[in-house]
Amino acid sequence: MSIITIGGIKGGAGKTTIATNLAIMRHLSGHDVLLIDGDDQGSATDFSSVRTEIKGSTGYTSIQLTGSSIRTQGLMLSPKYEDVIIDAGGRDTTSQRAALIISDVVLIPFNPRSFDIWTLGKVVQLIDECKTVNQKLKVITFLNKADALGNDNIEATEALKEIELFTYLDTSIGLRKSFANAASDGCSVVEQKPLDKKAVDEIKTLYRRIYDI
Ligand SMILES: Nc1ncnc2c1ncn2[C@@H]1O[C@H](COP(=O)(O)OP(=O)(O)O)[C@@H](O)[C@H]1O
Ligand SMILES: [Mg+2]
Repeated sequence: MSIITIGGIKGGAGKTTIATNLAIMRHLSGHDVLLIDGDDQGSATDFSSVRTEIKGSTGYTSIQLTGSSIRTQGLMLSPKYEDVIIDAGGRDTTSQRAALIISDVVLIPFNPRSFDIWTLGKVVQLIDECKTVNQKLKVITFLNKADALGNDNIEATEALKEIELFTYLDTSIGLRKSFANAASDGCSVVEQKPLDKKAVDEIKTLYRRIYDI
């Protein structure tokens, strides 16, 4: 059993997108998944409702928790599932700290943009503090909404690689409309028709790196 939080303190980085895609992919490969929506905006919960309407069921279990109940309820519920994925929401909140304290891994998507990279110092501080309580926490960063090419990707990558505490994965996810389209249809990009092969390849590569397969 592993608990993975999709975290970071920048709204719009793609946390909910990554969390829901991973939850579905984990379910599709036969695992019993709990998706915890730890953001009071409730985007993951909204997504799960749309998915249920369209498909009849989500395939994973979805609950919304806030604040320290993410730690208490999360710890109580997690042994009942093979995988727990927590969508932590976009700020340094009690919710995000509670999630980081019980997680094995935190995945932090960064858009290759200055506003996102400028949050890096605060993210390091947040992780540092949580690591004093949860030493096992592994921190993984990667680019989401990456450009097809260009300097911004390179600069963002360099900034992320500089943080020794973090493991930078060079498996970027591009800025691809299919992620947004799939979300509106209550599905992951691996289910979405017509298939966006590049998006599918990228999310599958990320998935394999995270789940070590
Ligand atoms: N790789 C991507 N390519 C294109 N759009 C994306 C990508 N990742 C996320 N988005 C879109 O960006 C917006 C913010 O993503 P979201 O997952 O809600 O971010 P967060 O949960 O971090 O606030 C959404 O409209 C989503 O569809
Ligand atoms: Mg979100």
